[in-house]
Amino acid sequence: MEKFNPEPKIKTLPDELYKKLDSYIDDLSVDRKDPRKKGNLIQVLHKAQGIFGYLPEEVQVHIANRLFLHHSEVSGVISFYNYFTTTPKGKYCVSVCMGTACYVKGAEKILNEFEKMLNIKAGEVTEDLKFSIDALRCVGACGLAPVVLINDKVYGRVKLQDVKKIVEEYLVATESEKKE
Ligand code: FES
Repeated sequence: MEKFNPEPKIKTLPDELYKKLDSYIDDLSVDRKDPRKKGNLIQVLHKAQGIFGYLPEEVQVHIANRLFLHHSEVSGVISFYNYFTTTPKGKYCVSVCMGTACYVKGAEKILNEFEKMLNIKAGEVTEDLKFSIDALRCVGACGLAPVVLINDKVYGRVKLQDVKKIVEEYLVATESEKKE
């Protein structure tokens, strides 16, 4: 297949994950002249993020080549949608709602406290890949402001002093997983 974009010589992500993505793309039977190829892009990015957990450059280039698109078209879509991420997420993803209701109830201080405790900034992941932090727009639970999610678990009316307890809860969880 002719490559639109040069692929990195060494891919760092596992081959079997690329195979999974490829078989999904194969099923779409995208053809070079297919006007729907751009329409397929969001669908494929969604799938790829589900498979890899994030969309680093090597995955973007791979997708661009498979869909006969330029890398810039792929990266443009990724940066347009908040949902897509180019950095890996931690096993526990801390999402702090920064919507208006949460903001007026001190979400920024809560976010800063998580950043301080985990020693990373929003958008980053800890070195051991256990925690990452994200700042989100309204998550639709304004009555519980300020709201924090750890993966899918919702914590409402979070106070500054709760942050330590929440982080410790997950640190304990990872310790007990190690012993199993
Ligand atoms: S503003 Fe945070 S849940 Fe709506």
